[in-house]
Amino acid sequence: MKHTPKTFASLVLGLIAALTAHHAFAQLAVQPYLQLSPEGGITVMWNTEKPAYGWVEYGPTAELGHKADLVIEGLRNANTTRHKVVFPFGEHQTLHYRLAWKNITAFGPYSVTFEDPQYTEILKVSQMPPPDQAVRVAIFNDTHDNLPLFEKLVAQLEGFDFHFSVFNGDCFADPASEERFIRSLNVYNKGVDSAQRPVVYHRGNHEYRGAFARELRSWFSPPGGHFYGAFSAGPVRFVMLDAGEDKPDENKEYSGLIDFTAYRKEQAEFLKQELAGDAFLDATYRILVHHIPLYNERDAVFSRLPREVWEDVLNGAPITLGIHGHTHRHIIHPTNAIGNPYPLAIGGGNNDASATVTKLEITPEKLTLEMLNVAGEVVEALEIPAP
Ligand SMILES: [Fe+2]
Repeated sequence: MKHTPKTFASLVLGLIAALTAHHAFAQLAVQPYLQLSPEGGITVMWNTEKPAYGWVEYGPTAELGHKADLVIEGLRNANTTRHKVVFPFGEHQTLHYRLAWKNITAFGPYSVTFEDPQYTEILKVSQMPPPDQAVRVAIFNDTHDNLPLFEKLVAQLEGFDFHFSVFNGDCFADPASEERFIRSLNVYNKGVDSAQRPVVYHRGNHEYRGAFARELRSWFSPPGGHFYGAFSAGPVRFVMLDAGEDKPDENKEYSGLIDFTAYRKEQAEFLKQELAGDAFLDATYRILVHHIPLYNERDAVFSRLPREVWEDVLNGAPITLGIHGHTHRHIIHPTNAIGNPYPLAIGGGNNDASATVTKLEITPEKLTLEMLNVAGEVVEALEIPAP
């Protein structure tokens, strides 16, 4: 192809834009992570290095054309390093977007001074597929901040074009400080391409512990609006539950500072409504996702605590599969193997010998689940035809 001056100029400009965008992306303290918004649409969160005003530019093409930011009770979210914006898909299946922010150099009552705006490269995000199309999910559990291990697991996802990922608990173990939390968050975000594929950060018993545990909620935007909730993707209704600590509330380790008894009851009320709703009833498959499974070979107390509250509500519900972690031993329990009325897929642990990453693909015809170890070997597999 012959380069006219105009096309050559636009090539150079494009190259400069790409290089600058990379620079801008690298200077973020936390790279963008997309989450399924409870209001529909998509939530993006990111951190700037300096206090700033941040917003998102988006649209159906790379021309963008729309702007969204966060306004809280009349005030645009600004003079902060933490940014969160929800933007709508409208009728579009895929949106292009970029992050934008202006660092604030002086914040006076009657005048605010900004640096020039900075932008990321243009990124893309797609809506969850409709019920007549396949959905693919990558699931991690119990990585316990073992970041080299996580990198080995992520490598097993190559070629797997997942729509979203789930961290199903104990991936941020006993979070003690923002610094340590961010270190893991950035590695996880990068590994699952969170700037272009939504991620669901879910809690396990270790996310309830440590000095930073009570801060986690403000860092995440769960799809149901709480750490429990439900959402639809492809032919599946995903129901997320937050099973609570692995010992009774009054255990001395918790210093009187937890009340999962009441929280599990609150979730039972949510479950009753969810199980009776059209979205649940009309789905082809219904998958429960929570860290601690309701059934255990030894009938351990950690399973009994949530089961005593939820089993009656779930009784007879057409659950296709439960996806869990916690025991650090990967296994698939077929229906009724250990008193479980639906099959359980339990991911592995936090070292090279026990860890797994789960690849889940659900088409209108069948559900296929594979757990891979760090060597890429399929160590557990399950196939369930559509009912
Ligand atoms: Fe656990």
